Amino acid sequence: VVSPKIAPSMLSSDFANLAAEAKRMVDLGADWLHMDIMDGHFVPNLTIGAPVIESLRKHTSAYLDCHLMVTNPMDYVEQMGKAGASGFTFHVEVAKENWQELVSKIKSAGMRPGVALKPGTPVEEVYPLVEGEIPVEMVLVMTVEPGFGGQKFMPNMMDKVRALRQKYPTLDIEVDGGLGPSTIEAAAAAGANCIVAGSSVFGAPEPGKVISLLRTSVEK
Ligand code: DX5
Ligand code: ZN
Repeated sequence: VVSPKIAPSMLSSDFANLAAEAKRMVDLGADWLHMDIMDGHFVPNLTIGAPVIESLRKHTSAYLDCHLMVTNPMDYVEQMGKAGASGFTFHVEVAKENWQELVSKIKSAGMRPGVALKPGTPVEEVYPLVEGEIPVEMVLVMTVEPGFGGQKFMPNMMDKVRALRQKYPTLDIEVDGGLGPSTIEAAAAAGANCIVAGSSVFGAPEPGKVISLLRTSVEK
């Protein structure tokens, strides 16, 4: 029912050669490119924003899966839409009051809305957003504390993925953090279909092999 989306996290790429890195991933079979937007406030790291998305968009037609680890996601909707972002995933922890307005603005700006949750956030908190009048179209379950690539996968987060998959058979469920050949089986068995992978893809001698292995695991 739900098709696999393999999304290399460009956080692990060579940012100084972003266009070439994006092309390399698409050529190796990536479905989406995962873009980690961090504001140095919601998480203790600072990365890229709309100007970089806008520049990259001139070099690729790929689906840009933007993960906003920012305290004020509303402030970025318009500029991310104009820059050419495809998906806009905000964190539920900072959208408790205004998620309905936020989701509707994301859609008006031409992007696909998603909601992310940190490891400490109960999965129940995203249910209203999936069932909203204007629903989110993806849930991103963080499997590490957001902020940095290269951390260890938290297997106990699979309870959240299982609960979501049981409730919502056709929902896009994304996992992010520590995914690679040794952890994909657990994530796929729990029901995740969108797989973010940074260090395991970019650090591999043959990244294309890792991308196809991730896809095969989700498909079976
Ligand atoms: C972490 C980011 C992830 C990160 C994943 O805050 O949201 O997308 O790049 O990197 P790996 O796959 O190396 O854990
Ligand atoms: Zn991410």
